[in-house]
Amino acid sequence: MKKWKIDSWKNYPAKHIPEYPDKKELNMVLGKIKSFPPLVFAGETRHLKEQLANVVDGKAFLLQCGDCAESFAEFHPDNIRDTFKVILQMSLVLTYSASLPVVKLGRIAGQFSKPRSAPTEKKDGTELLSYLGDNINGIEFNERSREPDPKRLFKAYSQSASTLNLIRAFSHGGFADLKMVHTWNLGFIKKSPQAKKFKELEDLIADALAFMEACGINSDFNRRLKTVNFWTSHEALLLPFEESMTRVDSTTGEYHDTSAHFVWIGDRTRQLNGGHVEFCRGIENPIGIKCGPTSKPDEIMRICNVINPENEKGKITLISRFGHDNVGKFLPKLIRAVKKEGLNVVWSCDPMHGNTIKSATGFKTRPFNNVVKEVKNFFSAHQAEGSFAGGLHIEMTGQNVTECTGGAQKISDQDLSHRYHTHCDPRLNASQALELAFLISDEIKKNSQYSKNIAQAAS
Ligand code: PEP
Ligand code: CO
Repeated sequence: MKKWKIDSWKNYPAKHIPEYPDKKELNMVLGKIKSFPPLVFAGETRHLKEQLANVVDGKAFLLQCGDCAESFAEFHPDNIRDTFKVILQMSLVLTYSASLPVVKLGRIAGQFSKPRSAPTEKKDGTELLSYLGDNINGIEFNERSREPDPKRLFKAYSQSASTLNLIRAFSHGGFADLKMVHTWNLGFIKKSPQAKKFKELEDLIADALAFMEACGINSDFNRRLKTVNFWTSHEALLLPFEESMTRVDSTTGEYHDTSAHFVWIGDRTRQLNGGHVEFCRGIENPIGIKCGPTSKPDEIMRICNVINPENEKGKITLISRFGHDNVGKFLPKLIRAVKKEGLNVVWSCDPMHGNTIKSATGFKTRPFNNVVKEVKNFFSAHQAEGSFAGGLHIEMTGQNVTECTGGAQKISDQDLSHRYHTHCDPRLNASQALELAFLISDEIKKNSQYSKNIAQAAS
């Protein structure tokens, strides 16, 4: 294996990285970003890795959620707050069902760049570069906006920093206190069946807290009851930016990508001999690898070995996204290969990216039922193979959008146009996200019984 360097990825072909017309400007911007403060600190990243190691051992569950693509237009404290609220609600439902701690990881504070299925987009006879995410170019369909502009990276950095700042305040400043659980409900889902179910959970928690209080255990003495660890993640797609955010941790001499705690390699950029795998093998962050229908188990094994030669627990999360119909065809083979190779991985399910269709009304959408089916099939495949289904990876928002069809609100093809705000893929809205958490609670319960056996075997 050749020696890794912070820029050795440049010696390998790297897909989905834009050609910037003004290289000088790009280098100036990247040079400045190199001198900016890190967004996250190496000690936090190590802490997350330890928590993910617990997921490998069946002692915790991973919930990774957020936008497909964050945008400059949707940047607003209420949006951050509402997404945070729904993730806390989902995580509470999962904690309750699984009787396991939930590792909360946002697709947030840096999830901008997007790999696109086509490099260009055609409209009324005009062909322009596809929209690649707000940190690269603009979504408006005109030549100027679609040209990659390096200065957008400053805005993205600054948006990520303020988003993270608010999340840190929410996580540690009292908002996430279990006593505040009743304030996490969002106005527009208050009358939904989910809200009713969540109210039952709130009451159970209130009883448990009252009981603990009577025993002298309350949030004044136990900060675990009033704070949460909330980690950030995004796809490590735009390598020039990721490189500029990568720093040597002075306490260990190791390289950390300080743009997020966790980064993942997308399904389109996970080539064994590609730049993205090369970059990710040198950083200490936990790494996700998306596995779609085109991934060969053998190839995934090799990628895991290159990125995690020491087989460290918590380093690799395999995020499967086969599509609801395809789980049975692909996942068991992958699970068997991982078992045979003895690899330590977190298994997470992304039920979004394999279930995208075009609606009759012309919108990119995802039927809620298919999303639920993929998650259920994921759990059954793991149970049949004797492996721990450890996580979920969901594109969602706290807003009342109409982007995915179905769910309790019965969003139809015709409804999609009402509030279709996403800058890329369709997201579950708050009601659908919470509904998903409730709908899979039985699977999670079964799973947690199974996790006890794994946890016992690991200890
Ligand atoms: C994504 O997670 O937004 C994404 C593009 O996923 P995938 O690489 O799995 O297609
Ligand atoms: Co997406």
